[in-house]
Amino acid sequence: MNYNIAVIRGDGIGPEIVPQAMKALKAVGSKFSHNFSFTDALMGGCAVDNAGVPLPQETIDVCLNSDSVLFGAIGGPKWDAYPKEIRPEAGLLALRSTMGLYANIRPASLIKPLHSACPLRADIAAKGFDMVIVRELTGGIYFGERGRRGTKNGVEAFDTESYNEMEIKRIAKTAFETAMARRKKLTSVDKANVLESSRLWREVVHGMSKEYPEVELCDMYVDNAAMQLVKDPSQFDVLLASNIFGDILSDEAAMITGSIGMLASASLGDTKRGLYEPIHGSAPDIAGQDKANPIAAILSAAMMLKYSFGLHQECHAIENAVDTVLRSGARTPDIMDTGTSHMVGTKQMGELICRKI
Ligand code: IPM
Ligand code: MG
Repeated sequence: MNYNIAVIRGDGIGPEIVPQAMKALKAVGSKFSHNFSFTDALMGGCAVDNAGVPLPQETIDVCLNSDSVLFGAIGGPKWDAYPKEIRPEAGLLALRSTMGLYANIRPASLIKPLHSACPLRADIAAKGFDMVIVRELTGGIYFGERGRRGTKNGVEAFDTESYNEMEIKRIAKTAFETAMARRKKLTSVDKANVLESSRLWREVVHGMSKEYPEVELCDMYVDNAAMQLVKDPSQFDVLLASNIFGDILSDEAAMITGSIGMLASASLGDTKRGLYEPIHGSAPDIAGQDKANPIAAILSAAMMLKYSFGLHQECHAIENAVDTVLRSGARTPDIMDTGTSHMVGTKQMGELICRKI
């Protein structure tokens, strides 16, 4: 089979990690006889510099004409002071929305070789964990009305959190189905003790749970969820959260896997075409130094194989290669420990994983 993949390297470490993920796809292609062809497109700060906007129409066209999209990271201090319409982040939000990618799947598990990189107490890390965060991606406060207005107390700024039933239903469906394919436990995160949007969220999720009687559903306030994630992450199977709560909790979940450089994600809608990206940012402080961890990008490519192309064996080939390389002791600086591990750069980590594939 031939698969056309749009590639958005982006800014900062994006152009270093994405080629490692492309290499991994090529390695899978030669092992399993698939052909992956890549078309580059600009988004983020580099697009602002080149085309004056963070998401050029040409990029939208390339993405919509592809079978799937591989993305690195965007943003950096250079563009931080730009007006909000042409900040790099605006490009990513617009792409998610334009492609209709309302479901963001962020798996977080602590694998054995990284137990010592986990910042949690050893007895908590020893229990391990394996969860998936299902984050709503095209609604909530990220897309609500925002602005500034004058008041007698000076300028007032506002952002609006709102969700409708359709938006909650479709993401809840993704979460219930994800749970059905796993340990059948769903924790729905909200702040229903304060927010009206959370109260509707809870009602709709409970309404849907009747269609999934096998799934054990529980609600958890977001502040409690943040605490439980560090107290006992092994209790979680699938976590369902709004756009902003999912954003925050997934960084926390990433960190307890050893490093934010480990977590992959898939953004999905109603078609097979998804956007696959590491959950970390562009890390401008280490850009261009061959220090970034390419594993999140490589595992994002693995998720593409599974979710967009239905290539499960191929996905496992990448996941197993990552596992084997980590077991061998190879570490990028972010997951380095003082034990038996040895330091490798971005390219070498990519190389080692490809060899194992
Ligand atoms: C993420 C990132 C983005 C988000 C930023 C870069 C807009 O933090 O994918 O988690 O908030 O969604
Ligand atoms: Mg984030």
